[in-house]
Amino acid sequence: MKRFSKAILASVALSAAVLAAPVHALTIGFSQIGAESGWRSAETQSVKEEAAKRGFRLKFSDAQQKQENQIKAVRSFIAQGVDGIFLAPVVETGWHRVLKEARDANIPVILLDRGIKVSDESLYLTKISSDFVFEGRLAGAWLAQEMQGYANVVELQGAPGAAPAIDRKKGFGDVMDMFPGMNITASQTGEWTRTKGKEVMEAFLKAQGDDIDAVYAHNDDMALGAIQAIKAYGLTPGKDVKVLSIDGIKAAFESMVAGDLSATVDCNPLLGPLAFDALETALAGGSVEKWIVQHDKINLQADAADMIDDRKY
Ligand code: AHR
Repeated sequence: MKRFSKAILASVALSAAVLAAPVHALTIGFSQIGAESGWRSAETQSVKEEAAKRGFRLKFSDAQQKQENQIKAVRSFIAQGVDGIFLAPVVETGWHRVLKEARDANIPVILLDRGIKVSDESLYLTKISSDFVFEGRLAGAWLAQEMQGYANVVELQGAPGAAPAIDRKKGFGDVMDMFPGMNITASQTGEWTRTKGKEVMEAFLKAQGDDIDAVYAHNDDMALGAIQAIKAYGLTPGKDVKVLSIDGIKAAFESMVAGDLSATVDCNPLLGPLAFDALETALAGGSVEKWIVQHDKINLQADAADMIDDRKY
């Protein structure tokens, strides 16, 4: 049998590897807000998994809830010449300059899960998100019906300046305004987290006690914190106080199965496949819708046990 030298075998192996590798692995920069909620961790995982599946190199930056960190990350992605940028904007305003820099460098920016306020929409390629005003309206409509039009409601808002906090407040408020017997008696930020949701709910209970009929939380994590506070206060969540939230994470379904959380509105965090579809379409010269909207529904406690096994996040 013919023998080959080690050097020849190594060079054959290298050539095979070079031929098998993609001509140019594309690089994407992802500026994520942080890891404030179960929802956000699910979104991060969705993008990471999809990048790996499609053979993209991913540069990931966690902004720790700070816009200045996101702006720095986007500038660094531009300097590194990435092929596209995914941006989950922590707040709505203050993006014009950095997005102009990305556009000048011909780098498409995809807004993931939240919108921004800019006068020039050509600064980004598309926004992939839910309709947060609709989510708030859906939550309000369910609660008004559940309470037959009469309730004192406390509201746990998301972080100030964030699109879902602004829009979910507006959508819910629009519906409350239609029912003279539905009153929002207190409204404060719980910063999207369980810890802060619990802390703010403790203060609401201290001030209003069992006059509170319902809690509307802009996300599940704050609702789960509020449930802890309600129990510690000696009331029964789901019975004495209805608790309603948005996101639809698995932990919220567990809470509904336990009889604590009353309902949660879906908000899809698994946006990785849609984001890469949009980017690939744009890079191939195709056109992309300006808003790729996710359609949500409400999940009720009575159905939670049947649905929980299918929850993917
Ligand atoms: O932008 C989506 C929101 O951000 C989610 O509802 C919330 O949990 C999050 O952190």
